[in-house]
Amino acid sequence: MSASRFPLVPSEVPRVETKHRRIVTAIPVPQALPVLETLARCESVAMHGQLPVVWDTAEGFQVRDVWGNQWIDFTSTIFVANAGHANPRIVAALRRVLDKPLLHAYNYGTAIRAEYLQYLIDHTPAQFEKACLFSAGTEATEAALRLMRLHAAKTGKRRPGIVALEGCFHGETLGARMLGHNPAKKRWVGYLDPNIHHIPFPYPWREQAVRQPAAFFEATMAELLAREGLDPQADLAGFMLETFQGWAAAFYPPDYVHALHTFARRHGMLITFDEMQAGFGRTGRLFGYMHYGIEPDLMCCGKGASSSVPLSLILGPTSVLDLPEHGDMYSTHSANPMACAAGLANLQALLDDGLIENAARLGAVFHAKLEALQERYPCLISRVCGKGLIAAVIFTDPAGAPLAPLCDRIAELAMQRGLLVVHTGRESIKLAPPLCITEEALTEGIDVLESCVRDLTGG
Ligand SMILES: Cc1ncc(COP(=O)(O)O)c(C=O)c1O
Repeated sequence: MSASRFPLVPSEVPRVETKHRRIVTAIPVPQALPVLETLARCESVAMHGQLPVVWDTAEGFQVRDVWGNQWIDFTSTIFVANAGHANPRIVAALRRVLDKPLLHAYNYGTAIRAEYLQYLIDHTPAQFEKACLFSAGTEATEAALRLMRLHAAKTGKRRPGIVALEGCFHGETLGARMLGHNPAKKRWVGYLDPNIHHIPFPYPWREQAVRQPAAFFEATMAELLAREGLDPQADLAGFMLETFQGWAAAFYPPDYVHALHTFARRHGMLITFDEMQAGFGRTGRLFGYMHYGIEPDLMCCGKGASSSVPLSLILGPTSVLDLPEHGDMYSTHSANPMACAAGLANLQALLDDGLIENAARLGAVFHAKLEALQERYPCLISRVCGKGLIAAVIFTDPAGAPLAPLCDRIAELAMQRGLLVVHTGRESIKLAPPLCITEEALTEGIDVLESCVRDLTGG
């Protein structure tokens, strides 16, 4: 999320009335201002920066306020509502828990937790033998850091080194911040973990990475080892990879991941994929790493794991998941009965209701249309990245300079026209509709996006 501030000044905007969108007030809505002003007064600024829409209800791929406005949602909140907002299976499952009632059970046994975990293990690849449930994604990435290091200690390594990728993000807590690359975001910590290393990301605009992905991995890894004086067999515990790099939805070339996998296997290192944005059908496969043709040891998930209430998890082999001491890796709200019920209903909806297939099928339409948009605006849109129903449209000027302010203005104008997009605070607009969206609504949303680009740039 960016720190951009969108003006809290209502603008008279043209009325919109289509099958999927409705804008019938000034935007932001004048009556919404007291809510937004109360939040500004009572809440840390660290929570703010979103478009000034006050959500009242969200169903399927649409978001509504109480003043009659309705948006097509290309955000899934923030890559959460994969199964659709208020998916009926999830609502019914939550209702059953509420009606029981059983709103919290700490880590005492519950039937719903056992049912969810069994289903999760049965429906994910074979190396995922056990899971640990949490609430926030950052807890899951912290758990990965810890498990990879415990594994290194158990296998007799000298140092618990973790290799992560430049430009990646893994959450807001201390360890996750250390795994993330952005130096400005960890200045407050006061020190850097000497056993967390970063290597360059193979962006699609890095010529060498595209031409020779495996050689790019090997050269950048060799440079790290030489610079830090590391012996990977003794000093490196594992790799932490965001499945695609968030702000740009940039995937790795598969050969890069294969080379990394070969290196990890040769040197007794574990591989963790952070599937927070990529998991649970978003890319047209159950998990995003499946596009690379390798199997990781550990996988961290959150967001689309429940499409709703707080749920995150780490999955891996028993030999790694059982490394912490008995009763030593959980938090108070881990495995809440509502989270388990939502997680189970969500996975059933994704697998049984054709939502992943929909993401794959509509993903092809989505990317074809976005690429056509890029072709119409080659001086503004340098690239469209992503797979399935996740895309980043990257705006740069002809000299390659980032156009972040333009992206904020596009996001704001789209909101005024009944489309919500993810503004990243950078030179990208991210698009991630719920996987239940229809082709008609998807097309309408892209047409709105194009109208915003056209009207803001005179193109
Ligand atoms: C790739 C990635 N990892 C980790 C996180 C942290 O998840 P949470 O905000 O649930 O702690 C996020 C959140 O945006 C993310 O995108």
